[in-house]
Amino acid sequence: MKQTLLLKVDSANPDPAKIQAAAKIIQQGGLVAFPTETVYGLGADALNVDAVLALFEAKRRPLDNPPIVHVASASEVYRLVQEVPTKAELLMKKFWPGPLTLLFKHSSIVPNVTTAGLDTVAIRMPKHKVALALISASGCPIAAPSANLAGKPSPTSAQHVYEDLNGRVDVIIDGGATNIGVESTVVDLTIDPPMVLRPGGTTFEALKLVISNVKLHAFVEAEKELPLEKIRSPGMKHRHYAPKAEVILVEGTVTTVTRKIQELTKSYRQKGAKVGILATDETQIAYKADVVRSFGSRFNLPAIAQNLFRLLREVDAENVDVILAEGVSSEGMGLAVMNRLRKASGYNIIKAE
Ligand code: TXA
Ligand code: MG
Repeated sequence: MKQTLLLKVDSANPDPAKIQAAAKIIQQGGLVAFPTETVYGLGADALNVDAVLALFEAKRRPLDNPPIVHVASASEVYRLVQEVPTKAELLMKKFWPGPLTLLFKHSSIVPNVTTAGLDTVAIRMPKHKVALALISASGCPIAAPSANLAGKPSPTSAQHVYEDLNGRVDVIIDGGATNIGVESTVVDLTIDPPMVLRPGGTTFEALKLVISNVKLHAFVEAEKELPLEKIRSPGMKHRHYAPKAEVILVEGTVTTVTRKIQELTKSYRQKGAKVGILATDETQIAYKADVVRSFGSRFNLPAIAQNLFRLLREVDAENVDVILAEGVSSEGMGLAVMNRLRKASGYNIIKAE
């Protein structure tokens, strides 16, 4: 077991001495968890093979699922990739720093472990003072997958990171709760038209305003597991965001969803099961179960995204047997929310009529 050092910082104005200390750990090949605007990341020097291998091990992440490489300015992309297509330049100008990850053909300086042997590398510039300060002070690109144990919901606070990774990493920088709450949108720019491989903090609608011809990979809206030959991103084939409890996602209109969840609650409780419900502000009073929590208002999808992973962890911590979750609209941030909920349920989806 490692001794994990906790560094609390003011996210608007991080103490340079603490950032320097964490950067030194990165330079020495160590592992530092840090906040970004989406979720917490677990960082290592992206160009140091041993550091990246340690990163996979700390997260218990399969070696075939590459992390995202984080940079502190768009200019750092050029030495990591073979070419920057015009559409990528447009997207970088419009959305960086921010929750958008772009896939490029990588240059020879990026080691194989960092890309899981693929010919592409995923890069993003986060919009968070702590993340940017850490990357700059480290003087290297930072490989950073979400700072959770593989399969668990992504961490939106330092407390979540601590629960999963205390004793497995060198430093956790605590910069408070993250703002967006779901991970970055991943777009493949090595194909034309470009394709969204993972929906996230940058909405599909916003992308289309900049590059009109962009497609959604079938996985983004999938309601069941995709066959292996359809997979374009390693992350698509691994189990994700899974609480210990069985999760059932109920999709439909507000009325049909509420009625179906009431029915399911009744039958599960009759069987003696402990039931948790993930509802919305508008519907939570309609339920009587062991644990009822609200994601937020159905009319505020960004707020629902912000609360999503925290609530999955909180309800699971109550040791319920089953979690009944309400589906919401797939517009805007709802696309990322529904993608995560479907994965969290293992595609255990009920269409309420
Ligand atoms: O918001 C985020 O993106 C967070 C924060 C920490 O920046 N990071 C994050 O990283 O979510 P991670 O490693 O948990 O998810 C990266 C996703 C995975 O689904 C992975 O399969 C995909 O990006 N990915 C990475 N490199 C890829 C590549 N070369 N080709 C296709 N997919 C790739
Ligand atoms: Mg992740």
